[in-house]
Amino acid sequence: MKSLSNKRILLGITGGIAAYKCAELARLFVKAGAEVSVVMTRAAQEFVTPLTLQALSGRRVYLDLLDAEAEGAMGHIELARWADLVLIAPATADFIAKLAHGQADDLLSTVVLACSAPIAVAPAMNQAMWADLGTQANLSLITERKISVFGPGIGDQACGDVGPGRMLEPEQLLHSCADLFETGSLAGLKIVINGGPTREAIDPVRFISNHSSGKMAYALANEAVAEGARVTLISGPVSLPVPERLQSVDVESAEEMLQACLLACTDCDVFIGVAAIADYRPDEVAAEKIKKLSDQVQISLVKNPDVISEIASQENRPFMVGFAAETTAIAEHGRQKLVKKKLDLLFANNAVETFNSDSIAVTAIQANSQQDLGPGNKSAVARQMLRLIADQLSKNNPAEE
Ligand code: CTP
Repeated sequence: MKSLSNKRILLGITGGIAAYKCAELARLFVKAGAEVSVVMTRAAQEFVTPLTLQALSGRRVYLDLLDAEAEGAMGHIELARWADLVLIAPATADFIAKLAHGQADDLLSTVVLACSAPIAVAPAMNQAMWADLGTQANLSLITERKISVFGPGIGDQACGDVGPGRMLEPEQLLHSCADLFETGSLAGLKIVINGGPTREAIDPVRFISNHSSGKMAYALANEAVAEGARVTLISGPVSLPVPERLQSVDVESAEEMLQACLLACTDCDVFIGVAAIADYRPDEVAAEKIKKLSDQVQISLVKNPDVISEIASQENRPFMVGFAAETTAIAEHGRQKLVKKKLDLLFANNAVETFNSDSIAVTAIQANSQQDLGPGNKSAVARQMLRLIADQLSKNNPAEE
């Protein structure tokens, strides 16, 4: 099956007996890595409770167009913008008629009208209603507008009839939805990325830090999500918006960075260490603000843990990718770090040119090869980096291709 990881699916449920199957469908979507928001018509709520769908989707269920509370959280326009796909299942004859004529008199029909993402319906109705020329004319109208129609299946119906009109089974709908998307090169992989600087406290108001902007790590995180990876981004203090569709963890010090990374790496496939972690921290953190009493102050520094080396020395370690920020002999120093830190791949770059810049050029160094990537903006180079990682992973695990 193609991947649904990181995809946002708006599941619209209308009032048919097959609505009960949508509980299973929501569960399958979540299991496949998608985010699911459910919109139910009033009639749908007679067949299955919003609470069931809320529990299975893990998100609030949207019921009314004119619900001030729901609109406050995510109004019909936001819902329409949020979705990568709208699936209406079951879609009753009545709802298909509404779609065909562009009516918008409840939340679900309004979202559909406002939505530019792909829309699919899974019809479910009595076989005679399905065969009715009115229904068939409405179906022609919606297929002309590129709305996908999944099913219906043929067989026994709840009313005792036999024929076409059964909603497809949740598993079939899951596959049909997945087929609408491209599968990214990192689909299903868990990737942990750290980025930004760390802050090492001197006293309650002062710290030692560096100029790292976090832009490279954030670009990698965004691009990895686009390629279908489940991403955890562990970030030191930066002033960048938190990317969507990933788990983000904020840390300050190197020690916090280490603990957060170790925790996230227990079940991850790839670790990418981009963070500019302070190599040293003050030996002691003054409890009170240090006063300006003498002409000279000595701050004694002790070594911080090397986060990437610690993760690389774990027994079931992920595929390890590091960065090397250098100012001279960039590739040479990078290769030394690849070996010393026991990494699988390292991107060496010019620290002075790269910090805070939007563009980057790197040398990608592996045990037996070396190649230049970029220069380009950090998103474009991030895509090249991830392609290299995906290629390497598929070489390492040819059976899983
Ligand atoms: N790194 C780390 N923990 C540290 C220092 C660095 O995990 N305490 C990681 C960085 O995230 C990067 C790689 O190690 O992936 C190389 O970082 P860099 O700053 O270039 O090297 P250092 O090990 O700090 O060596 P030096 O400062 O001597 O160049």
